[in-house]
Amino acid sequence: MSDDPVVAIAGVTGAVGAEFIATMDKRGFRVGKLKALASARSAGKRLSFRGQEIVIEELTADSFNGVDIALFSAGSGISKKFASIAVKAGTVVVDNSSAFRMDPNVPLVIPEVNANRIRDHKGIIANPNCAAITALVPLWPIHRQNRIKRLIISTYQAASGAGAAAMEELEESTRAHLRGEVYPPKVMPHPYAFNLFSHNTAIDPETGYNDEETKVINETRKIFEDEKIAVGVTCVRVPVLRAHSEAITFECEKPISETRVRNILAGAPGVRLVDDRTGNYFPMPIDASGQGDVLVGRIRQDLSDPTGHSVSMFVAADQLLKGAALNAVQIAELLPQRAMA
Ligand SMILES: NC(=O)c1ccc[n+]([C@@H]2O[C@H](COP(=O)([O-])OP(=O)(O)OC[C@H]3O[C@@H](n4cnc5c(N)ncnc54)[C@H](OP(=O)(O)O)[C@@H]3O)[C@@H](O)[C@H]2O)c1
Repeated sequence: MSDDPVVAIAGVTGAVGAEFIATMDKRGFRVGKLKALASARSAGKRLSFRGQEIVIEELTADSFNGVDIALFSAGSGISKKFASIAVKAGTVVVDNSSAFRMDPNVPLVIPEVNANRIRDHKGIIANPNCAAITALVPLWPIHRQNRIKRLIISTYQAASGAGAAAMEELEESTRAHLRGEVYPPKVMPHPYAFNLFSHNTAIDPETGYNDEETKVINETRKIFEDEKIAVGVTCVRVPVLRAHSEAITFECEKPISETRVRNILAGAPGVRLVDDRTGNYFPMPIDASGQGDVLVGRIRQDLSDPTGHSVSMFVAADQLLKGAALNAVQIAELLPQRAMA
């Protein structure tokens, strides 16, 4: 692969697509040529990359000839249809959708956790679910020191996790609400302004878990390579424009103190402690937005576990960045023969 690879972005006009461009630019990711791909609706529109005007093309089976790396974020149906075509053309695909995450032949990678798995790829590397990434970046260094045997997560997920149209719906429905008008939801299943609701993915009538929750459970086990880790999770969509938050309680095999957790996390890659009890200042989506770390705070002993094995904390991360575009670009940077500018 060239040091100045030809890079394609499939889904370039979306919420994640826009962040791919910004992230590559910010990190000095070397690009020989950029191919901007989206649906026929966007074909012919223009965008700017490093001072150059790039014409958006319709994503087709011919889009990947001569492409070294493709970053996919156009939904799992598009990934299922086009990723194998891209691989046959010699392209390495970093896929943001859920299409291949649980495929045993596809590495599921958070660079701070399992960058070593990138070398196993057979053409496709999957980017994990954004709620999973947000939890697992800070949990991994703890798990390595003192195995986490049980994990309970409650999410507070932003509109941006459902794409550009959902962000627009939150803004428009909030304005309508303040004008005293009724706003019939178009993208979300329920009124979004001044409301929250169970995550908008399909719910399994048997288990009562929605798809987002199932992804967090399965992906945690795959990424940690620990089939026995017990995960309970409740995913909720909240009227926050950008950046997910999560309340996390974990139980370790050996006793663990909040001080130990704070010390481990103080030096952990991709983590920033925001844990000011005096100022009552803790992770907030507004502070997480636009930056790449998972903010971690409210670190405290779980008083419901008198054995001292459990700790609770609250985290926030920009899921368009660390939960999607940044994580994918970090993976692309680690592909063989890649170099930074
Ligand atoms: N949002 C997040 O935080 C997040 C996090 C992790 C993973 N992801 C995943 O990333 C993907 C995109 O998410 P998003 O939030 O960026 O969604 P989005 O804002 O709705 O953008 C969707 C993108 O897909 C393109 N697209 C739709 N149909 C297409 C088609 N038939 N052919 C080619 N391109 C097509 C759209 O192009 P047009 O503008 O031309 O329609 C647009 O660029 C999803 O798989 C999502 O699950 C998202």
